Amino acid sequence: MKKIVVAIDGFSSCGKSTMAKELARETGYIYVDTGAMYRAVSLFCIKNDWMTDTEMNETEIEKHIHSIRIEFRTNAQGKADTYLNGVNVETEIRTLEVANGASRVSTLGFVRKELVRQQQLMGEKKGIVMDGRDIGTVVFPNAELKIFLTASPQVRAQRRFLEMKEKDDSVNFEKVLANVLERDDRDQNRAESPLRKADDAIEIDNSDLSPAEQQAILMNLFRERTALD
Ligand code: DC
Repeated sequence: MKKIVVAIDGFSSCGKSTMAKELARETGYIYVDTGAMYRAVSLFCIKNDWMTDTEMNETEIEKHIHSIRIEFRTNAQGKADTYLNGVNVETEIRTLEVANGASRVSTLGFVRKELVRQQQLMGEKKGIVMDGRDIGTVVFPNAELKIFLTASPQVRAQRRFLEMKEKDDSVNFEKVLANVLERDDRDQNRAESPLRKADDAIEIDNSDLSPAEQQAILMNLFRERTALD
């Protein structure tokens, strides 16, 4: 069976990573969460005071972008943790503050250029499932299977809300929804590699699909594409 590249793009919180992880597990492919890479850059900038709620010090970020090393290491539970310059930041990068920062640093062309370069290296040998916003359009325009995943903002906010509530009881649904809408707007309207469906991507709206139904659709597509010469 030939090895392929699977690109999964879509809005935030529509289940891209669940879908990608499940596919990687079933097929033995490597999974790369590119959102985690932008989040790691965001965390690095926040920690160094190069980014506040209102401002970004682009000069400093650009000066240090090549000293940011991001890796994924499998933990004892078999899950991939994100490492920033050798430190496990998997928990720290999942906060709203870091997510917001990620959506801002991801508008910077030099940040995207460096992360795209790292992502292309990771996928050189194929056998990879990568999720993000620009995988099918910029990172791997020749990917054999491209998925564009969507769901309504309310459904996505509800999913993120339930996920966050497990860790923090004070989380507020309206705030989560506002954050989802704000990030959608920024992802779609930025000048650098805005989120859009690649012409040859297959769109799946999972608002009313169960995880099992969604996975069955994906596995069928995967079998179809890996069988082709
Ligand atoms: O998927 P996520 O919520 O973890 O992504 C965090 C932010 O990073 C999101 O606002 C958009 C940005 N991002 C991007 O611009 N390009 C990617 N390939 C992945 C994420």
